[in-house]
Amino acid sequence: MSGNIPGDIPDKWYEGAVLFLSTINYWYFTNDTTYNDVTKVGLEFQGEPGDYMPANWTEWIGNDDQFFWGCAAMTAAELNFPETGQYSWLSLAQGVFNDQTAAPSPRNTGWDETTCGGGVHWQKFSEQSGFNDKNGISNGGLFQLSARLYRYTNNTEYADWAQKIWDWSVGHLVVNGTFEVWDTVTVGTDDCHFPGRTPWTYNYASYLLGAAYMYAQTTGADQERWLNIVYGLANKTLDTFFLAKNGYILEEVSCDPYPTECFDSNSILFKGPSSLWLGWTAVLVPQIYDKIMLKLQATAEGAAASCTGPTTPNLCGCSWYQKKLDPRQGLEPMMSASNIFTINLIPFDSQRRTKGPLTSSTGGTSKGNVNAGKNAIRHDPSRLPPITTADRAGAGILTAIFIAAWFSGVIWIFLADKS
Ligand SMILES: *[C@@H]1O[C@H](CO)[C@@H](O)[C@H](O)[C@H]1NC(C)=O
Ligand SMILES: *[C@@H]1O[C@H](CO)[C@@H](O)[C@H](O)[C@H]1NC(C)=O
Repeated sequence: MSGNIPGDIPDKWYEGAVLFLSTINYWYFTNDTTYNDVTKVGLEFQGEPGDYMPANWTEWIGNDDQFFWGCAAMTAAELNFPETGQYSWLSLAQGVFNDQTAAPSPRNTGWDETTCGGGVHWQKFSEQSGFNDKNGISNGGLFQLSARLYRYTNNTEYADWAQKIWDWSVGHLVVNGTFEVWDTVTVGTDDCHFPGRTPWTYNYASYLLGAAYMYAQTTGADQERWLNIVYGLANKTLDTFFLAKNGYILEEVSCDPYPTECFDSNSILFKGPSSLWLGWTAVLVPQIYDKIMLKLQATAEGAAASCTGPTTPNLCGCSWYQKKLDPRQGLEPMMSASNIFTINLIPFDSQRRTKGPLTSSTGGTSKGNVNAGKNAIRHDPSRLPPITTADRAGAGILTAIFIAAWFSGVIWIFLADKS
């Protein structure tokens, strides 16, 4: 991350965003500024040209990848993470929103009502494989980002979009009444109603946190409606992934039990952002604070028991629910474990918990730009530089060193606080 291309984890572009989401939350709950500079530089550097569509990676970007960067920037705005760059955190989040809600064009595929009656595609451009899917995290992510922008700015354009994305999602990706959240629908297949049903924590948690923000910023009958949606999604999320037979420890049910079949870097990462989004849901909706935090606490104990890797610092595995190390160790399980520990600092910090994520009227200082990213030049394959193997290896090693150092800080703080 430092020394090579700032913010870029080679071949895993979006994971840089998840890392920064992690380090920003870590800083917020611990006041440890050690990783702020590297976070700030990377989060700014990848923000080109104002909306996280840097020319180097345009060919590969999915709406979900871009959302994760927008989500990290939004978090930075809401927590008043220091900013000094060309683009403000808030404007970067707005840039992602602007891209994804724009009508489709050859240079930018946004909200596409010509297929499935709406929704964003998984991938940005029609030549990418996976373009024909409209998936849970891309749409749940855009829903969450809209709701967060609404709460931060109180601009009702964002609320209208959150409502619109939710309305489209119900019946396509979210099951009316049962609040099951599906992974994907495919354009052209049974009128976009035949879903890929695999349950993933981050699909559920992306929609849940979005609904929590809408609840927090609405009043009256609207608020009542969003509260019921929060309850429905929260109940379903807790019932699906925090099983009594596991002592209510979070389990990625479609992956964790299958160490030899499921080890791709994505599937083993989702519990991390999901943990953060569940924790912030608890902060925004006090009615379900206890219910969620009790389970996140049980989960942290499970995760800690899985961090018994043979090397220093203690590497974590994925089998939190089994309270033991498993073969899947490395960057992603460590980010996930750090997130579950960090979010368990919420109960120790009543001041931050009461304040919640900031808004422009409660002390958030990041200045917006409603036109962010709108005139950016993008999707120009001639600007793609070749990436050499040496670049990759070098950056990978630096990343590993950075993660290891940061993680030992996290685990130390967690243990100190528990004792
Ligand atoms: C794009 O790639 C070039 C060449 O490797 C690099 O110098 C530059 O920093 C990259 N920009 C971003 C935003 O990643
Ligand atoms: C969610 O669970 C609570 C009990 O914890 C229950 O009161 C509520 O009715 C449930 N809501 C939905 C929508 O299922």
